[in-house]
Amino acid sequence: MIDAKKRDKNAVIDTHKYNKVKIDKSLRGRKYFVRTYGCQMNEHDGEKIKGILESEGLIETENIEEARVVILNTCAIRENAHDKVFGYLGLVKKLKETNNILLGICGCMAQEESVIDLIRDKYPYVDFVFGTHNIDDMIKVINESVKTNKQTIEVYSILGNICEGIPEKKDSNISAWVDIMLGCDKFCTYCIVPYTRGTQRSRKYEDVIEEVISLKEKGYKEVTLLGQNVNAYGKDLYKDYNLANLLRDVSKTGIERIRFVTSHPWDFTDEMIDAIAQCPNVMPYIHLPLQSGSNRILKLMNRSYTKEEYLTLYKKMRDKIKNVTITTDIIVGFPGETEEDFNETLNVVNECKFDGAYTFIFSPRVGTPAAKLKDETPLREKEERLYKLNEIVNKYSNESNQRLVGTVQKCLVTGISEKDSSKYCGYTETMKLVNILSDEDITGKIVDVKIDEAKSFSLNGIKI
Ligand code: SAH
Ligand code: SF4
Ligand code: F3S
Repeated sequence: MIDAKKRDKNAVIDTHKYNKVKIDKSLRGRKYFVRTYGCQMNEHDGEKIKGILESEGLIETENIEEARVVILNTCAIRENAHDKVFGYLGLVKKLKETNNILLGICGCMAQEESVIDLIRDKYPYVDFVFGTHNIDDMIKVINESVKTNKQTIEVYSILGNICEGIPEKKDSNISAWVDIMLGCDKFCTYCIVPYTRGTQRSRKYEDVIEEVISLKEKGYKEVTLLGQNVNAYGKDLYKDYNLANLLRDVSKTGIERIRFVTSHPWDFTDEMIDAIAQCPNVMPYIHLPLQSGSNRILKLMNRSYTKEEYLTLYKKMRDKIKNVTITTDIIVGFPGETEEDFNETLNVVNECKFDGAYTFIFSPRVGTPAAKLKDETPLREKEERLYKLNEIVNKYSNESNQRLVGTVQKCLVTGISEKDSSKYCGYTETMKLVNILSDEDITGKIVDVKIDEAKSFSLNGIKI
């Protein structure tokens, strides 16, 4: 992790094709179970893991008790993400007493040295581990663990590594994730991602566009362009091709909906705002993490913008992009955050009136600079701050939903509602979840929905 900070940001990007390896005969035709934690990038990696296993003749099961191969695709962002995985490992250990299970761990926790040490010492029943940089080596690692019957760990951090053409088993046939860049070079002081995902590397725009065209041909209605900070797209690869160019080019493919996450305020240019405003199929929804409203804390976080710069950008987006919704992420209780700092965050929230926000209590991550800072605020006080913040955040997200009651919204219907199986569910252009009443099957279609009720986190409506 110490070396990671000194890494060469101009490393040559090595794009290689997926190299198919045959899985051990004993596993062909057997069932597998994959559980994914964490962000959309990890979800998308989960699709690749499933795709590779299926291409080797394994069959997915959602019942872990039927599985021969179990893989936990983990997240390391906060301590509770770790706890969830270690808790689940205990359950799999029990199951291993009666079932013949080959157990693997991958994802962001696998990239943490402290976790690898722990797995070696305390979790001998984990059969194999691979990392976020070598998903394409998964079959090799599995075969090795079957052959040797020993714990097999293969984790690297390869500077400029991108693997194209990994098979995918997509979770949806309506909306698809598309990686546009991997890794992160921002090194926010609280964050583990630059260590677990490695250096920022953009995929070539030709590869991205080709993938979107092929998804459109397969009938996909929506793509979400993925990266830890998509506004830096291209910086490591091109002199004059950035996210604005990419959005315009992806827009030309004619796919009906284009989304992108996550944005970083620092790299967000006017040119990008214009591209979002002008391309009709780029959706008017931006996730723009604020993290804190105090300049002192933002500086300690290494976020490279001030509260004032954030507000200027925010207002520009509201002015230029018609009906845009903007959501955010906020951390409370960063080391040294005073009541005054926290109140500044509340002030910014009151000024922006976000359409939604994800809020977190700071969680120290081993090896990150913020974990070494003095942190004297008791947890109880941090919890009170979080509670107070959530009350305000929920008030605004509720208001933002209420404003839609009585309006007609175009919704992309993604399936049956999880809450009410007599309804469909879909998303507005502005990424609001709607439970929809309809007589006919509207799955996969973009339909007009009259909104008749607003809740804090969803809307209800009728297809018209
Ligand atoms: N790349 C994205 C965020 C990825 S992590 C971005 O920069 O916006 C998602 C969110 O988790 C972050 O925005 C942050 O609010 C939160 N987060 C990250 N590390 C954290 C930590 N150590 N403790 C608490 N929250 C954290
Ligand atoms: Fe983490 Fe910051 Fe990178 Fe986001 S931009 S992934 S918060 S280091
Ligand atoms: Fe978690 Fe890794 Fe994503 S730490 S949030 S799964 S990049």
